[in-house]
Amino acid sequence: MTAAYVRACGLAELEEDSPKRVEIDGVPVSLVRTEGEVFAINDICSHANVSLSEGEVEDCSIECWLHGSSFDLRTGKPSGLPATQPVPVYPVKIEGEGPDASVLVSVTQES
Ligand code: FES
Repeated sequence: MTAAYVRACGLAELEEDSPKRVEIDGVPVSLVRTEGEVFAINDICSHANVSLSEGEVEDCSIECWLHGSSFDLRTGKPSGLPATQPVPVYPVKIEGEGPDASVLVSVTQES
């Protein structure tokens, strides 16, 4: 299956280490700009129905604010309990340059 990339937002809208929740094709996604890259992870914690974009970003992970599991932004894997299941992560492309650059995400393919 080929990945259909959809424009999620402008790159300039993403602040470093400040997650932004967007919806792409009905899928809630948390976009995170950190360590010079942009990551897209499903916004719902795998432990309960909690929005990950309200959590803190540290060391390329996002922490669920409710019980403290951290999910690796590259793989979606939790680093510790109580969550045991990974959260889907999605491929990201940056299109364009400078202030007009866009963040594209494909939710039809998990990376
Ligand atoms: S709801 Fe996220 S760790 Fe419990």
